[in-house]
Amino acid sequence: MSENTVIQSVLLDDENSTLVILDQTLLPNEKLFLRLTSQNQIWEAIYSLRVRGAPAIGIAAGFGAYLGTKESKAETYEALYEDFKKVKEYLASSRPTAVNLFWALDRMETRFKKEEGKTVEEVKKALKEEAENIRKEDETICKTIGENSLSLLKDGMGILTHCNAGTIATAKYGTALAPIYLGKERGINFKVYADETRPLLQGARLTAWELNEAGVDVTLICDNMASIVMKEGKINAVLVGCDRVALNGDTANKIGTSGVAILAKHYGIPFYVHAPLSTIDLKCSTGNDIHIELRPDEEITTKWYEKPMAPEGVKTYNPCFDVTDNSLITAIITEKGIAYPPYNESLPKLFK
Ligand code: MRU
Repeated sequence: MSENTVIQSVLLDDENSTLVILDQTLLPNEKLFLRLTSQNQIWEAIYSLRVRGAPAIGIAAGFGAYLGTKESKAETYEALYEDFKKVKEYLASSRPTAVNLFWALDRMETRFKKEEGKTVEEVKKALKEEAENIRKEDETICKTIGENSLSLLKDGMGILTHCNAGTIATAKYGTALAPIYLGKERGINFKVYADETRPLLQGARLTAWELNEAGVDVTLICDNMASIVMKEGKINAVLVGCDRVALNGDTANKIGTSGVAILAKHYGIPFYVHAPLSTIDLKCSTGNDIHIELRPDEEITTKWYEKPMAPEGVKTYNPCFDVTDNSLITAIITEKGIAYPPYNESLPKLFK
């Protein structure tokens, strides 16, 4: 991925104490960067999926914790901590499934506590530094995930991906798309099939867009076409990202992922989950402990249509993630190596 094609979807403009985010709801038609200064604006940007993808949500939350606390008029460490905790609690209510949100906020709190005895200004500076560290580390982590993933792939392979786990969902490179970008840098090319990813079309609007911009061979398919492309032998591996991995390897990712995994098993195609350690939640023993976000009705009845495509007032059910059973996952690829089943043994080892 060359420097001039990199799209930075979450960045701090330090001079103006502003978080600059690429509004992902407008893609692919408009590339608009929003300048956010308050915790309310950052909460709204996360909730509305202007900034989205587990690692990018964590990065935005880190900067949100800094900018929200920066607004505080507190004059002592203790008073500032009270304000920080309110900001943290508020930002934590923006979305429930991606554990990176909570991981980043907890990390910000750990840093806050480390600064005990310092002045209010020093603590605010430390928070800024910590948020920036989260962003910078994510870039290195994604690159390493890409290296590890690439070791499992071969030039010319057909790859199916679901949702968007690309550069705009992270600081850079993405997780599931990182091997594709790294491969391209090295002359290793893949034929990528992007599921459109109903209902919010992250595959069509975001994955197809960013891969196309980067000159990757990408073909857009509707979600219900995954089976035919697998049957026709076009797919050699499925690469997906995730929002939370439980201790036993059960993995929450965008709605529809578990169906793709079931199909991959049927056709004997390896199914690889890409996860930074910050997305692995050892406190959840199985996928049943993962809180699945439910989103508004209009996302499946009217949002993308000129006219409603469902009868007015019809009952809806709009879970935005599902859990893929660990038995369907060939491997979980992290920055610390590749975990294979049984995951309740291999995942904890990665943290040692
Ligand atoms: O609702 P979204 O668009 O935030 O869902 C995103 C996904 O499901 C991604 O696959 C996941 O967060 C991994 S991003 C590297």
